[in-house]
Amino acid sequence: METKIFKLAQINEAANLIKAGELVAFPTETVYGLGADATNEQAVKKVYAAKGRPSDNPLIVHVASTETVANYVQSISPNAKKLMSQFWPGSLTMIFNLKPNAFSKTVTGGLNTAAFRFPDNQATLDLINAAGCPLVGPSANTSGKPSPTTAQHVYHDLNGKIAGILDDGPTRVGVESTVLDMSTDEPVILRPGAVTKAQIEAVIGSIETNHHQVGKNETPKAPGMKYKHYAPKAQVYIVDQDDDWSAAIKWAKEQPFGVGIMAEKRLLTDLKPADNLQTFSLGAGVEDASAQLFAGLRQFDNQATIKTILVQAFAAEGLGLAYMNRLNKSAGGEHFKLD
Ligand code: TXA
Ligand code: MG
Repeated sequence: METKIFKLAQINEAANLIKAGELVAFPTETVYGLGADATNEQAVKKVYAAKGRPSDNPLIVHVASTETVANYVQSISPNAKKLMSQFWPGSLTMIFNLKPNAFSKTVTGGLNTAAFRFPDNQATLDLINAAGCPLVGPSANTSGKPSPTTAQHVYHDLNGKIAGILDDGPTRVGVESTVLDMSTDEPVILRPGAVTKAQIEAVIGSIETNHHQVGKNETPKAPGMKYKHYAPKAQVYIVDQDDDWSAAIKWAKEQPFGVGIMAEKRLLTDLKPADNLQTFSLGAGVEDASAQLFAGLRQFDNQATIKTILVQAFAAEGLGLAYMNRLNKSAGGEHFKLD
């Protein structure tokens, strides 16, 4: 199969492929998603096959209106309505209890709930409206790899496996949406994202964050949390403090293999070139760094000579919580330290 790149003027062509049960990757403000008609089980099955995704990991349903959600869910609480009006379209995904058989088990991974998201990207909202159905949309990467923040990242992973990619340039936020479970009495954040706990609490009051580490044979609340994630082939190390960089760079230059360095621009300007070092700027501040994190990991992953990647840590609060959650996973929790 040839994977076609669609420009924004070709949304109707892309929508026709969705209607025909094919897969089209779509842009959002967070990362690119892999779209299929959520009401077509055969189409949704292809999503798991293309990504190599385990079948017990449910998919987010993307909608272009809040009214669509009401068709599928048992009820939308007053708090959920407040969150929708505050954050939709935007980077907040909410999980609701479904009406019986609202979606196939392939969408829900066998759960009685589904996650809904109203993305903040006009091209994709137009695509959903033109296709006339909600779209499932996991991140459009090969399972286990960093999520794609450009159409080229999607093409790299899924060329030949999907019908098309709707190209709207690099995504703005760069880390995936906040996943908030609204299916229980107490709302719980299952995945930190660009909509922060403080922002949610400002609308509905105090909520929980699920910090529980899921065991191998346990069914987690957000099934995706148990899998290896965001991992390039090289070993990633988190560099915690500004002070650690000089030791880290000294160590890197002594290695017989290539080392990739991802840090804010201010930490890279004084860096003396060395044959085995390559740098990738994370810009300035945690917003820039979140937007660039996956692109940097992917750039180094494409170079076989790079065996280690050193990445700057940020304070784990606000958007930094989402950044550090992704970075921790890609590093398997490893921090740079000299012993
Ligand atoms: O920003 C995003 O959310 C992107 C863009 C494309 O919209 N999508 C995305 O999807 O990150 P995905 O499939 O890569 O991650 C969805 C996460 C997974 O950890 C999954 O297990 C969890 O949400 N999830 C989905 N449905 C769920 C449900 N009903 N209950 C609990 N967790 C659920
Ligand atoms: Mg994903």
